[in-house]
Amino acid sequence: MLKTAAVSFTLSLFALAAQAATPPALYTSAQASAGAAVFAQNCAVCHGAALGGGGGPALVGAGFTQAGTTIGSVFSVLAQQMPATNPGGLSQSQYEDLMAYILQKNGYPAGSTPISYGKAMTDSTPFISQAK
Ligand code: HEC
Repeated sequence: MLKTAAVSFTLSLFALAAQAATPPALYTSAQASAGAAVFAQNCAVCHGAALGGGGGPALVGAGFTQAGTTIGSVFSVLAQQMPATNPGGLSQSQYEDLMAYILQKNGYPAGSTPISYGKAMTDSTPFISQAK
């Protein structure tokens, strides 16, 4: 009994460690590929075709996701203030797709659950870029 508890405790520690190493799957690959097209059309002019920055800051790499950056902190700026020339002017699904694309470019894996506008706005999940 005790031994079983110890084993399952050890296993859950491993699960936690694995979770820290692998970022969560927060979007679908269909969203990310749709987001690539929306980005090229509406964002690349300021943020660069490869998200490396230009008139606007880079949206990829460690400098982009500094301490305290969350899914919600990025998504709320993106959905309410971008594109800078037309804040909030895109559709909710276009903003979801853009966030998926930005997550993908920062090394997050695609999964089976789509990212959703309402949830992303206040999502406190840390956003830690895996991109070098
Ligand atoms: C006309 C230029 C311009 C366009 C177009 C534009 N942005 Fe921006 N963006 C900026 C500037 C400048 C900033 C930094 C100042 C600010 O936050 O307002 C910024 C900031 C951001 C940030 C916050 C970056 C950070 O470090 O926290 C995100 C996310 C973002 N933009 C995403 C987008 C997306 C997605 C699009 C396309 C829908 C887009 N932007 C279109 C100029 C632009």
